[in-house]
Amino acid sequence: MRIIRENSVNLENHNYKVVLSESFSGINEYLKDIQNISSFQIITEKNIYDLYNAELSSQLSSLTIPFHFIIIKGKESNKHISKVGNVYNQLIKNSADRKSVILALGGGVVGDFSGFIASTFLRGIRFVQIPTTLLACVDSSVGGKVAVNADLGKNMIGSFHQPELVFAPLNTLINSLPLKEWKCGISEVIKHSLLDGGEFFEKIQTISKKDLKSVDNISFYITESVKYKSKIVGMDPKENGIRAVLNLGHTTGHAIESFLNYKKISHGEAVGIGIITALLLSQHKLGLSEKVINNTIKIMKRLSIPYKTNLNPTILIDHMKHDKKNSKGKIYFVLLSSPGEPKFGIETGESEISDAIHIQNKL
Ligand SMILES: NC(=O)c1ccc[n+]([C@@H]2O[C@H](COP(=O)([O-])OP(=O)(O)OC[C@H]3O[C@@H](n4cnc5c(N)ncnc54)[C@H](O)[C@@H]3O)[C@@H](O)[C@H]2O)c1
Repeated sequence: MRIIRENSVNLENHNYKVVLSESFSGINEYLKDIQNISSFQIITEKNIYDLYNAELSSQLSSLTIPFHFIIIKGKESNKHISKVGNVYNQLIKNSADRKSVILALGGGVVGDFSGFIASTFLRGIRFVQIPTTLLACVDSSVGGKVAVNADLGKNMIGSFHQPELVFAPLNTLINSLPLKEWKCGISEVIKHSLLDGGEFFEKIQTISKKDLKSVDNISFYITESVKYKSKIVGMDPKENGIRAVLNLGHTTGHAIESFLNYKKISHGEAVGIGIITALLLSQHKLGLSEKVINNTIKIMKRLSIPYKTNLNPTILIDHMKHDKKNSKGKIYFVLLSSPGEPKFGIETGESEISDAIHIQNKL
């Protein structure tokens, strides 16, 4: 077993570990710390099951606690309220009870969906996140936001339900995660580096594509991301204030996703483009230096992540107005005065946004 880093999320009445590990080896030791478990109910997708069920099963076998796999369909379109009934029925068939623990094995789709099931089945049972994408490792598995989509809106039905443990086996990323999915996650890492500033933002300027294929090279960025997110979640678990900074890049990002109907572009790619809009607005409104914008674009170019869109600003602004984070036609952004100095809830005028996106489209 090689544990690369152990972090913790410390909340008023619940603490949990966030473990970055080279592989599944050792997860059994961490699961032992969860008391009084009647069964493990592992929710995962078919391709993740095929790749990793043997490794996980061999760890669980040493615990003499029964475990069952429940296979769901992957993809955002299946993270939908209409899909939960079938999983509740399978849990009942498996005799899951209040002492059962759900293990969410997969990316953010599996994590959000399984967490939602855990938060509602028998009025809430415990769960563990086992993230297998970069995005899930650095973002969705930490913080307890769980949700499914409604016909008319993404993540509209959900709750805050914190896991008992997050255990990230990084071999799953190195061995099988497609490059496209690495790119989705790296935008969230860039986001965290801008929010945190300091050494994290300095170091990420040296990142290259080859770093994405080495646990040793990538673990610094994952570690720093998790550390930053854990700290912010600990300060504001239910997003009543400072946690909103984690939405850097999301105002434009969500508008792009919504306009494209969650097809053609991934969440991570949309957030990457949104980060640049936010940085241009930060320059205009808070005096962020142009060097930070240029350096961030250089990182994105080097990793071949999109940093601009050819979409019409007016259309995007219309989608921003309908985002659940905005209200009464007002649009709010997370901006930065410098790396490490984010400000949230900055009301931003339509003409300012339009100008920024026009500039961005010409970059
Ligand atoms: N709860 C939160 O705080 C939060 C934060 C950010 C994003 N999210 C949610 O996360 C979701 C996106 O997550 P995602 O980017 O991980 O997407 P995803 O879960 O759809 O995974 C992306 C693809 O990678 C595949 N995959 C996963 N792990 C793999 C592995 N190790 N090897 C090979 N293939 C693998 C999946 O089958 C899928 O096709 C969205 O629904 C978004 O809303 C939630």
